Amino acid sequence: MEPLKILVVDDEPRIREELEEFLTDIGHRVFLAGGPAEALRAMEARTPDILVLDIKLPETDGLTLLETVKPRRPDVEVIMITGHGDMESAIRAMRLGATDYLQKPLRLNDVRAAVERTGKFIRLSRRLQAVERSYSLLSREVKEAGGHRLIGRGKAMRGLLDLMTRVAASDDTSVLITGESGTGKELVARGIHRLSVRRDGCFYPVNVSAIPESLFESELFGHVKGAFTGASTDRAGCFEYARGGVLFLDEICDLAPALQARLLRVLEERRVRRLGAHGEKSVDVRLISATNRDIDEMTAADQFRSDLYHRLNAFRIHVPPLRERREDIPLLIECFVGLFAKKQKKQIHVIDPHVFGALAGHPFPGNVRELKNMVERAVILCDGDRLLPRHFQTGSAPVDPSAASAAEGSLDLESTEKRLIRTALDRTDGNKAQAARLLNISWQSLNRRMKKYRL
Ligand SMILES: Nc1ncnc2c1ncn2[C@@H]1O[C@H](COP(=O)(O)OP(=O)(O)OP(=O)(O)O)[C@@H](O)[C@H]1O
Ligand SMILES: [Mg+2]
Repeated sequence: MEPLKILVVDDEPRIREELEEFLTDIGHRVFLAGGPAEALRAMEARTPDILVLDIKLPETDGLTLLETVKPRRPDVEVIMITGHGDMESAIRAMRLGATDYLQKPLRLNDVRAAVERTGKFIRLSRRLQAVERSYSLLSREVKEAGGHRLIGRGKAMRGLLDLMTRVAASDDTSVLITGESGTGKELVARGIHRLSVRRDGCFYPVNVSAIPESLFESELFGHVKGAFTGASTDRAGCFEYARGGVLFLDEICDLAPALQARLLRVLEERRVRRLGAHGEKSVDVRLISATNRDIDEMTAADQFRSDLYHRLNAFRIHVPPLRERREDIPLLIECFVGLFAKKQKKQIHVIDPHVFGALAGHPFPGNVRELKNMVERAVILCDGDRLLPRHFQTGSAPVDPSAASAAEGSLDLESTEKRLIRTALDRTDGNKAQAARLLNISWQSLNRRMKKYRL
């Protein structure tokens, strides 16, 4: 057993010394106090794991001390020393939160057993606290789904987050994000911005394919009044608007060849000139670009300038399609259900476990965007508080509920949840109110989950 820090509080010096010697011998760290005031001072200086507390003390008695200490220091476990045969005090001590009690005269074997039991209890509850933390982390993640958070904690997603964090730290490196449509490239770009020192600057997205070629230069670099017909005022371009922040050029492969040359020059010189202007301004933006086309092949086939390609591609991040990271699907569904239920003001409490199974064989050609749309539609179709496989049936992509057995790893979240709930119930001897508190969820929500998992 790991050494525990034990504070012994007793007014009889003989008992203090005996306990100190014995507990030190069996490997613990012991400190002593002769009365309540001294005990409180000792606890300020050093938090003990266990308080061994005599019930009969001068000034205030041990029970009163227990009553004041326990609510304030719930993680300090208390072993009470009571008089021989004084069951009433023993029971009161346990009700006030003591973990164990010893009767006088003390038998060292009983002391050892009580300390061991309590140590075991401490280890368990610490482990549970860690579980609880990750659980509330998980529910926070679910709550944040409405924002721009990247959802998914599978291996691929963790790898992606790692790359994002690393490249975010190197401020000026251009990033090229590739991946199929709907995989979350824009979210990745926003994530890099948020992780970088430019987080207080803006994130300025520009969809290259949405700007007519004739307006592109003025959009990106700005113009002065009279630079061309219709230019009635001076106007800054995206590079200026994004100053101090991130310029996100989406669908970069759609950039016309002449404009590829213009963009390359700006990136090389790190200066822009507004159309029709004389002076130039320095460029202080980080460039992140994205495409769902095969930019490598296009470059090889001379459809994209290779010098620009190398500028943009200083750091490559590839976002894998959803079908290659199916382990993220349950969490994504859970988060999107939360998001759309809130938006549509619906009380959906349960996702039928068969939903995950029913989607197991679906290839998701539209990736996360498709899944998100499916969930939105399902939430619209759902009238009760339970989302069912039939809510996910669509004309274009029939989802086969009989595929339930093929659920594979997609039930990960559920089994984690189930395990957490079981642990909490075990730890609290089936007391639901306490278990709910441990899990940081409401009693109702625990009940719902227990029903869902038939616990
Ligand atoms: N990991 C994710 N977590 C949460 N939402 C996601 C995730 N990936 C994608 N989405 C959502 O899916 C939708 C599509 O994402 P996004 O616009 O980033 O895709 P994209 O890769 O840029 O697609 P396209 O190539 O079509 O522009 C968005 O609504 C986005 O919020
Ligand atoms: Mg996009």
